[in-house]
Amino acid sequence: MDHLSITFSSDAGRHIAVDDLSFSIDPGESLALVGESGSGKSVTALAILRLLDPRAQVSGSIWFREEDWLLLPARDMVARRGRDAAMVFQEPMTALNPVMPIGKQIAEAIRVHQRDLSRSAVRRRAIEALESVSIPEPHLRFDDYPHQFSGGQRQRILIAMALVNRPRLVIADEPTTALDVTVQAQILDLLHELKERSNAALLFISHDLSVVAQIAQRVAVMRKGKIVEIAPCAQLFSNPQHPYTRSLLAAVPTMHSNRNAPLATTELSTTVPEGPLAEVAPGHWTRVAE
Ligand SMILES: Nc1ncnc2c1ncn2[C@@H]1O[C@H](COP(=O)(O)OP(=O)(O)OP(=O)(O)O)[C@@H](O)[C@H]1O
Ligand SMILES: [Mg+2]
Repeated sequence: MDHLSITFSSDAGRHIAVDDLSFSIDPGESLALVGESGSGKSVTALAILRLLDPRAQVSGSIWFREEDWLLLPARDMVARRGRDAAMVFQEPMTALNPVMPIGKQIAEAIRVHQRDLSRSAVRRRAIEALESVSIPEPHLRFDDYPHQFSGGQRQRILIAMALVNRPRLVIADEPTTALDVTVQAQILDLLHELKERSNAALLFISHDLSVVAQIAQRVAVMRKGKIVEIAPCAQLFSNPQHPYTRSLLAAVPTMHSNRNAPLATTELSTTVPEGPLAEVAPGHWTRVAE
């Protein structure tokens, strides 16, 4: 992602949701975007798949291998969504179609990219996908509707659907927020395991640093549409540089958190460095004073 900016205009004026954002993810790598509500995490994810509100003005580049996806005609994105990059949304109940059996939904996701597969081959593939996310007896559950599954199972089904065409990049936007903590941990384990198996890149979005610590290799902290700090995960937790990162860590009830310097988020707007990103250690960048 190269100098991505996203602006929404309305009668009330212009709102810059994402402001000159650049980062990259390698195959097999997991990068987390964290930051407070409204910091621009979801719009960044939606921009990658070109699923943003058409009224959004987007500039910059989003490179996938050799291709700038922001320059592609909209119809060419259909072939890339799901196959090159796929998304796991936060709310499985709204992301799944409530009036269609889940097996049929997965089968449709397969057929978009593999039109020549026979009906029985598609069915087999869909059942394998459900198996891979540990839905018990998937051949018996194939014709069940979303409401017949638990919240954790629905999230697994969404993950199965996102991964069924073996995408190179998986974007998971708050995939565990709606779940209780034990189920959360299972979903994180599952995502991790699937990522390891397929060597896909994972862009993991959360407002919750304790969740991020369980899955990310690198973490980018976002605030008001900008990255304020980006670092390898362990480094960010052990040696946070930016006051905003420290305030997020202070709010996390774990033994990693630096409780010596808690800073209320509301105090930050006047005190945080908003200058350029500077590298303070290998791969560890933070905003410094102008
Ligand atoms: N369709 C839209 N029209 C106008 N403004 C929008 C639209 N979608 C998002 N925004 C604005 O863009 C900013 C970033 O929103 P975004 O959804 O990316 O936040 P987020 O970091 O994902 O927050 P959360 O943690 O609450 O999910 C917000 O100020 C939001 O109001
Ligand atoms: Mg969001």
